[in-house]
Amino acid sequence: MILMRIGFGADHGGCALKDELIKHVQSKGVQVTDFGTNDPSVSVDYPKYAQLVGTAVANRDVDLGVLCCGTGIGMSIAANKIPGVRAALVHDVTTARLAKEHNNANILVMGGRLLAPALAFELLDIFLNSSFEARHQRRLDMVAELETSGRESPA
Ligand code: RB5
Repeated sequence: MILMRIGFGADHGGCALKDELIKHVQSKGVQVTDFGTNDPSVSVDYPKYAQLVGTAVANRDVDLGVLCCGTGIGMSIAANKIPGVRAALVHDVTTARLAKEHNNANILVMGGRLLAPALAFELLDIFLNSSFEARHQRRLDMVAELETSGRESPA
């Protein structure tokens, strides 16, 4: 795995998984920024952590982001509001691989209340070791255009 910087964020529902994922990638030499939260016993609001990680990714302070909440749904909805973010909620090895190959996701989202750590490690490893297939770039350009024209009727 090439040297990279990954920003991690979670709410209370994803905090435990986030901490396990950080240990997992640090053991492989990945540079980590932990944007919190760090106390799973305190209820917090996932949009704050989606914004912290999403802006770090969009501003290229980190190469990739990983977000965890209870289901991953709230984090993915919130992170995808940030221009430049392509956050993908994944549940299995196929969605983890395709999130990179087809969507070139720059944030991987997982549900801390849904996935066992061992599966989450596998999904993150698959995502990191997969490659974007350039034939899908036109769709990603169209997605990026929605950041400015998304309220207009499609042509
Ligand atoms: C928090 O209880 C929970 O709603 C959150 O972790 C997440 O699952 C939201 O999508």
